[in-house]
Parts: sequence; C-alpha cells; structure tokens
Amino acid sequence: MPPTPPHQRIAELRSLLQKASYAYYSLDAPIMEDSVYDGLYRELEALEAAQPDLITPDSPTQRVGDTPAEQFVSVRHRVPLYSLENAFNLEELRAWDERWRRITDEPAQYVCELKIDGSAIALTYKNGVLVRGATRGDGVTGEDITQNIRTIRAIPLRLNVNDPPPVLEVRGEAFLPLDVFEQINAERQESGEPLFANPRNAAAGTLRQLDPRVAARRRLDFFAYSLQAPEGGLLLPCQEAALNTLQDLGFRVNPNRRTCPTLEAVMTYYDTWDSQRHDLGYLTDGVVVKLNDFRLQEELGFTQKFPRWAIALKYPAEEAPTVVERISVNVGRTGAVTPLAELRPLQLAGTTVARATLHNQDHINELDVRVGDTVVVRKAGEIIPEVVRVLPELRPQGTEPFVLPSHCPECGQPVVDLEDEAVVRCINASCPAIVKGALVHWAGRGALDIEGLGERWVEQFVDLGLVQTVADLYDLTLDQLVALERMGQKSAQNLLAAIERSKAQPWDQVLYGLGIRHVGSVNAQTLARAFPSVELLAGAEVEAIAQVYGIGPEIAQSVHQWFRIEANQALVNRLQDAGVTLIGTQSIASTEGVLKGKTVVITGTLPTLSR
Ligand code: IVH
Repeated sequence: MPPTPPHQRIAELRSLLQKASYAYYSLDAPIMEDSVYDGLYRELEALEAAQPDLITPDSPTQRVGDTPAEQFVSVRHRVPLYSLENAFNLEELRAWDERWRRITDEPAQYVCELKIDGSAIALTYKNGVLVRGATRGDGVTGEDITQNIRTIRAIPLRLNVNDPPPVLEVRGEAFLPLDVFEQINAERQESGEPLFANPRNAAAGTLRQLDPRVAARRRLDFFAYSLQAPEGGLLLPCQEAALNTLQDLGFRVNPNRRTCPTLEAVMTYYDTWDSQRHDLGYLTDGVVVKLNDFRLQEELGFTQKFPRWAIALKYPAEEAPTVVERISVNVGRTGAVTPLAELRPLQLAGTTVARATLHNQDHINELDVRVGDTVVVRKAGEIIPEVVRVLPELRPQGTEPFVLPSHCPECGQPVVDLEDEAVVRCINASCPAIVKGALVHWAGRGALDIEGLGERWVEQFVDLGLVQTVADLYDLTLDQLVALERMGQKSAQNLLAAIERSKAQPWDQVLYGLGIRHVGSVNAQTLARAFPSVELLAGAEVEAIAQVYGIGPEIAQSVHQWFRIEANQALVNRLQDAGVTLIGTQSIASTEGVLKGKTVVITGTLPTLSR
C-alpha cells in the first residue's frame, strides 16, 4: 500500500483528534485512551514540524500560543450581550410570568438551565472557524481574549459541520471547576500570592491573563447556552433545538437542562438543583428560565437591559452574620503562618461553619477584623468559608486590632516575613507543625494515599519522637504501633500494610508528596513526565526544568533548590532504600509503522503535552 501523503495524513489526524477531544471534553464520553490521543497528537506535531506551511490555526496543536499579549483590544459585539432580570422566589417568578402573558396569549413551554457562576463570553465563528473570543464587558463592548479562549478544550476551534453558516455567534459561560479553583488557590497560598475570592473571580482573572500559557495551565471550562447566525444559514425553532445543535457543533452544553410545561415544573427543577448543586463540581447561583419558542422570544423582545422572555431564579445568598470569638494562628506544612477566625457556629449552605480563613496580616488589616466583631461570613459550594466584611456598627468597645505573633506558636522560633510574600513563615525545619504537616500531606490523597494515616496518628508519631521525616514511616514496627494510645493489633497491621502498599504509588504522586514549594499535583505530573526518575530531576539544571512546557522559572528554581539541600538528598536516598517508587514508566501505543500494535516503554525525556 502506498504511504498516505503527509497533507492527507495531517487532515485525517486533525479530524480524528478533534472528534476525540469533543468526545472527551464536551460529551464526557472518551473514545480513546489518553496515551493513544497523545501518540496521535505527537505524530501530528511531528508532521507539522516537518512541513510548517501545512499548519492552520484550527489544528489541535495550535491551542496555546506562546506570545503574551501587550494588552487587550476592545471589540464591539455584533449582537449585544444582555443580562438577566433576577427573581428570588416563586412570587417574583409568577410576576414575571404574568407580565409576559399580558403581552401575548400564546401558549408556552419553559426551558430551564443551570445558571453557571462564571464569566460570560462571546465567540465568533466565520465559515466554521473560531476567529474571535471576547469578554462580555459592558454588554456592548468587550475585550478580545481570543488567545485565552483557544486554550479551552470545551470550545471547538472548528465547528463540527460540513456547511457552516457564514457567521455564527455563540455565547456561554467560562468557569473554573471547583477542584481546579482549589488547587490554584492552594498553589497561590504556598507561594504567598493573593488568593482568588471565588471561582468566578478566578475565571475572570484567568480570561484576562496576558500570557496564554498561564491561561492554558489554569484549565478553564465552558458551557454554551446561546447561538445566533446573524447572516442566516441556521433556522432553529426553539432554545431546546439550539442547545442540541450547539452540542452537535462541538460545544460542551450543560446536560442538566430541562423543558418544562408549567411554572410548577420549573419550581420542581429549581428545588431539585438547589439541593443537588453542591455535588456538581462547579458553582451555580440559580437557574435560568427561558421561553422555548424563538418566535415568541422575538415577539416579546427586550427591555433596556433584559430579555422579556427569560429570567434568573437565584438561590438565596450564602452569607450570614456571626461573631468572631477568637483568632487562632495555624502553622501549615510549608511553615506558612495563617490566622483563622474562630466563629460562633452558624448554618451556611447546609453545613455548620465554625472557622473561616483570614489569609494573612494584610487581609486582616484590610478587613480590620477584631475579636468580638460581628462579621459577614460567606460559604459557597465546597469553598473554605471566609469573612467578607465587618459590621462596624456592632463592634463592642475596647477591641484591639489583631496582629500576628512574631514567634511561631508551635516551636517558638521567630517567624520571617519574606519579601514579596503575603504570608509570614516559620522556617524551622524541625518545627513540629511543619513535620506533622509534611507527613499528613505525604499520606494524603493524590500523594502516597496511605489509608488510615491521618492527623490523629501523625500527632502521636511526632510527639513521641517516632517519626521525624516521611522516610521514618517505612521503619515503623508493629510493636511501636501497638504501643500507641487507642491503636489495636488489627489497625496497626492495617496501617503497616497501607504504608507498605504506598511504596508502589507512581513517581509523580511521590514527587507531589515531597511537598516541594510550587509543585502541586499538576506540576508534579508534568515534571514526572519530563523527568521520569528522581536522578534525572535531581540532576537537572534550572534551565532544563524551566524548559518543560507548563513549568515557569519560579517553579524550576524551587525544584532545583530543593534537591540542592543535603537533608533532602538524604531523604531521597532513604526513600529509595525503603523501596518507594522514584522512577516512572511511560507507555505509548504506537499506531503506525514498525511499532504498530506494540507497546513501547520509554525512559528519558519526552516533550510534555497539556493533556
Ligand atoms: S442566558 C439574553 N443562560 O448569567 C440571555 N445566562 O445574570 C442572557 N449565565 O450574563 C443570558 N448561565 O453570564 C444564560 N444558562 C445560562 C446562564 C447564563 C449563566 C450568566 C450569563 C449572564 C448572567 C445574567
């Protein structure tokens, strides 16, 4: 069989990768293993590298640009982005319903959608190719953020259709899934950067990142909810059809939509999602109710600000007042000294809240929060509750501004205020709080995942001097464990078995478990792929580490420094002796040529992919 000419192979690869990406990101129904995707992606990259003139902007390899923008350019939306009127209860919903029914007596169906709490964006496709992505701005003018939008995998670079309309305008909500949000904030906390208040701010901040590589790393997601073809070419009868078409075109559309015949059914939808929304993995702040029929929508039109044919039915605010009873100071595994407000317990978003983070001294100063103050506390989804503001009218007499202690509350050593960091730190490597934190992190999910090894045992291990570093865990004996308070024979055996099993956890999880600053689980995966053994990583120069796609100079610096510290080298040696996995294997399934059908195990450096 003659070999497929490169341009044809390129076209076939692009089409298949686009399908796979759509199945994975938009439908949540993968059609191939990640390793197969990666293999095909690399083949496409290689073909394009050999013939750069064949690269087109809609190729799957062209999602992440590498030239930061100087600033964003303003763009005028072809069709303005309206916002929605809010209703907070059934009466307000009924009032809206009666209002539009006064204008027309057509029968109507409602389409209910989740109201995603992110940032609205507008996408323009010309002849099926994404040419522009913009922020909402004031609804009339937004900013051109195409470079960042292209990094969102739930947004197709090319529409999945043979005869696209000349122009297609798609709107939807860009957002950060909660786990990604928490990870970003954990990483920011570690590096002393200011935290994002909530996923919405984090999403908006990410969309306006000048460097698309930063945006790509933040893993934004997207749900499409509206589509228009201002120059014709698509005739759709209703919102339901529009949502289905969006999905067919390649967009991620929220699966929890529902067409409802009555307002009662709308209320049931609202109640259902009010109680189930905390399991979604992203934040929603209400539901959006739209009249389904596009003819009816057109007839009703818009007020100055809102469509008359839609309304947002919002969930009650998850903010409530309480009193700060104490401010305690916590020392984390990185030595970061964080103030916590101990609150008079209150019910918020379905859980009891008794503590809220105050982040750092600057934040305390900004809020001017003091012991005794009545404060507004907010909790949304799975996010750590936080103090939003103080009610100064309710401040008791004689309160004092709160100042963090100058010495570590755990070990008594002076804390240091490192330049360009918002947090102060205890830098005593044998501070019990740091040692305990490191152990809990090592045993935690995503790291060595040692079942049964929580704070309770770690406290005892450290306080009794049984364990000083994570390597000591592998020397623990049954006798030592059984001697602990409230530890039975059976639990001791189970714990030892779990510690033994952890030796087989993969290299990237071990690397994450080491707790090197700036190396969260995502960076650990990236680094472990680029440096598939501890020797390779420990021996790498800063420049070599910084060259890895997705790893910035600050992370590279931190990793490099970590391996230069003697105590850390000794720790790695002991882990190696204990039999912990410090080497990775990478297997890719090759699809063509002499390697067809074989699995090849490679050790060495590979260019990393974002996937
Ligand atoms: S429809 C003219 N549908 O809510 C119709 N909006 O408060 C305009 N939003 O700016 C919007 N999920 O950012 C619509 N399923 C959904 C939505 C949604 C979130 C946001 C959108 C809009 C804001 C209005």
